[in-house]
Amino acid sequence: PNPTRRTERQRLCDVKGVPLISSMHEIFGRVEKFQAKADDVLIATYPKAGTTWMIEIMDSIRQGGITKEIKTIPSHERAPFLEMNRIDTVPAGLDLLKDLPSPRLVKTHLPFQLVPQSFWDKGCKTIYVARNAKDVLVSYYFFHKMATSLPNTGTWDDFFESYLSGNVAWGSWFDHVTGWWDVREKHQILYVFYEDILQDPMREVERVARFLGHTLDKGTIQEIVKHTSFGMMKDNPMTNSSTVPNTLMDVSISPFMRKGQMGDWKNHFTVAQNERFEEEYRRRMAKTSLRFRTEL
Ligand code: A3P
Repeated sequence: PNPTRRTERQRLCDVKGVPLISSMHEIFGRVEKFQAKADDVLIATYPKAGTTWMIEIMDSIRQGGITKEIKTIPSHERAPFLEMNRIDTVPAGLDLLKDLPSPRLVKTHLPFQLVPQSFWDKGCKTIYVARNAKDVLVSYYFFHKMATSLPNTGTWDDFFESYLSGNVAWGSWFDHVTGWWDVREKHQILYVFYEDILQDPMREVERVARFLGHTLDKGTIQEIVKHTSFGMMKDNPMTNSSTVPNTLMDVSISPFMRKGQMGDWKNHFTVAQNERFEEEYRRRMAKTSLRFRTEL
């Protein structure tokens, strides 16, 4: 294969009512049958909610600090992406998981109802990270530009509409965050907000550690907070996607570690779009107790 060839943009295919990119649709039969182990830990998110950030936090906690593994192994190998099929030279998540020693960290963007049943049968711990809908929209728009296996976004206005109607990879943000919220007490699920980590990382790292059953001293928590700060992760080749082939993620188009802030939506939404968004938001979130912050 020509190493400079850009990965083809894939189309969305329906998987039990949820749009996923076609290569995931192909592998989904195998994903469903995945056999989780009791000590697997799942990190679940809607795309762009802070997955990579939480993986780094969780892995540092599990290892008791910033070990050689954390410093030298790319994030996507330490926490394989469950439903991701092989693309170019990057193996399928299922194949990476086969060779990964336990306890394994497993990454997914699947909505709750599509997660393989064995995770719940085995009582696996799950951390779900949620981020406010507006900042996710902006982040997802820029991510589509650089992640060349995702469909074309069209213009900003086009993508805005696709996102609101849930016609994007992994489906509707509304269904995703509320679906996981509704089941959080039925399973061992810790529901964490991106905005809370941004506001008080010490507190949230401690909370995650407690949930995972680790007691860390203050110095180690401080070390983890420093290692997982936006600036450090942006410069760290193990977390900033620079180890992923650039035919798959082209960081010259838009960096993976783009802004890492709350409220960037204000730089992109028009006044009319904001009104339309608010109206749809009120309608879709009317029945849930789930609340987000869109500014500090
Ligand atoms: P932006 O595009 O708004 O900058 P995911 O890992 O789920 O794909 O999420 C990526 C988003 O999380 C990006 O958002 C990225 O910058 C942000 N992010 C990653 N690491 C972060 C950190 N340490 N602190 C704050 N934001 C972070």
